[in-house]
Amino acid sequence: VTTPDIVSVRGDHPGPKYDKRLFGQFAEHLGTGIYGGIWVGPGSKIPNTRGYRNDVLAALKAIRVPVVRWPGGCFADEYHWREGIGARNKRPVKINTHWGGVTENNAVGTHEFMDYSELLGAEAYVSGNVGSAPPREMAEWVEYMTSPTGSSLAKERAANGRKEPWKVPMFGIGNELWGCGGNMLADYAADETRKYATFVKTPEGVPIMKVASGANAEDYNWTEVMMKKAGTVFSGIGVHYYTVPGTWSKKGAATGFDEDAWATTLVKTMKMDELIRGHSRIMDKYDPKKRVALLVDEWGTWYDQEPGSHPGFLYQQNSLRDAVVASLNLDIFAKYADRVRGANIAQMVNVLQAMLLTDGARMVKTPTYWVFDMYKDYQDGIVLPVEVSSHWYRRGANELRAVSASAVRGTDGVVHVGLTNVDPNRPATVTVQLAGITGTSVTGRILTAPTMDAHNTFDAPDVVRPEAFTGATLANDTLSVTLPAKSVVMLDVK
Ligand code: AHR
Repeated sequence: VTTPDIVSVRGDHPGPKYDKRLFGQFAEHLGTGIYGGIWVGPGSKIPNTRGYRNDVLAALKAIRVPVVRWPGGCFADEYHWREGIGARNKRPVKINTHWGGVTENNAVGTHEFMDYSELLGAEAYVSGNVGSAPPREMAEWVEYMTSPTGSSLAKERAANGRKEPWKVPMFGIGNELWGCGGNMLADYAADETRKYATFVKTPEGVPIMKVASGANAEDYNWTEVMMKKAGTVFSGIGVHYYTVPGTWSKKGAATGFDEDAWATTLVKTMKMDELIRGHSRIMDKYDPKKRVALLVDEWGTWYDQEPGSHPGFLYQQNSLRDAVVASLNLDIFAKYADRVRGANIAQMVNVLQAMLLTDGARMVKTPTYWVFDMYKDYQDGIVLPVEVSSHWYRRGANELRAVSASAVRGTDGVVHVGLTNVDPNRPATVTVQLAGITGTSVTGRILTAPTMDAHNTFDAPDVVRPEAFTGATLANDTLSVTLPAKSVVMLDVK
């Protein structure tokens, strides 16, 4: 029996909006993330709509994907947009030098991606090429996508099948300029960002959020220099942080791990809290009014690739542990939602901590997908701050609070309370005090499984999936909840 944990939900002190962009996805030309994952081509036997596989599209629509970042990642700074327009059979075939050295036939280019975003009902977050293309190339790409009829580029777009301009709400000024985007030092990257951002122009009255390439994890100097030297030319800056249980050379397996690896993974995930605080503190110095958003535009688990899979494709299984990693991050984002107004999990399909895995015509929803499903009503709701007093889960040198929580009043008026018990062995009894919240009923869903590495396969796709949760009761303004070991629960108080 554990001491009851206490979560206070401050409905009487509503916080900022939980921006729907915090549920953003990332689709890079990497492995089977695009080809095979979302795109099979119009001639495929796999059921598709204009080349986009129907099963994946329907699954992503169901979780209301709000934004997709494309075409990279590292691929972005080697991508030349002109190679991805016009007749598909005439597009150049390149080598994807960054990811596996495989051929890239450019079948998915600007039209295909923008069309997909519209089908999905998601905003486009397009990453430009700073590392290996001149500013003119970036300027012309933006003009091609956003200018109304009249200019030669707009006419070319129309001739390629799209008369109306697209909306490009977010545009990245390169990716990881400190690494694959050009190996730049912070000062030089800030200068380059100033220069390239100058030429990203949309027609009068058409908004575009320019996003600076952000820091690698705790490289606070990067944020400092970018904000100081270039902070006026962009309205978003990224930060990338991956949860790697081991080291970059031996990251650890996606399944078949022990409790030490479980605990290490979750402790490393909690570093996101410290990182957001650290980068926000620097941003506050230069931007106290929080005009510039911090965007965690790459996050998620990164394990050793699945045995037998193509090196460089970053294909990995996804287990209950990933579900917990996802809920912890979504809870952390709620804490800092005034500054963190977007995030892109890496990546949407078949790559790293994916929503979906595909194999030929088959598709499976991962435990991470189900967490995104359970939390989806947070999108654009109002954060209700939480105070959590929880016992510790300890394993060897690793320790973290056993209970993680967040709460949002959805746009539907319902109060949604997300609770996670990270302890893989013991349940947690939680008292949730609801201040300033009038509700008379509680319902919920739970995601759990008998083992830490429980996962869904093509042959057994429903091993980990949400079920109705009956472990919560509401009396006056107090919820009494029993969270089973290693579980994620979403409660709806109406
Ligand atoms: O998501 C995989 C890679 O990780 C991205 O291409 C890059 O930006 C990051 O290093």
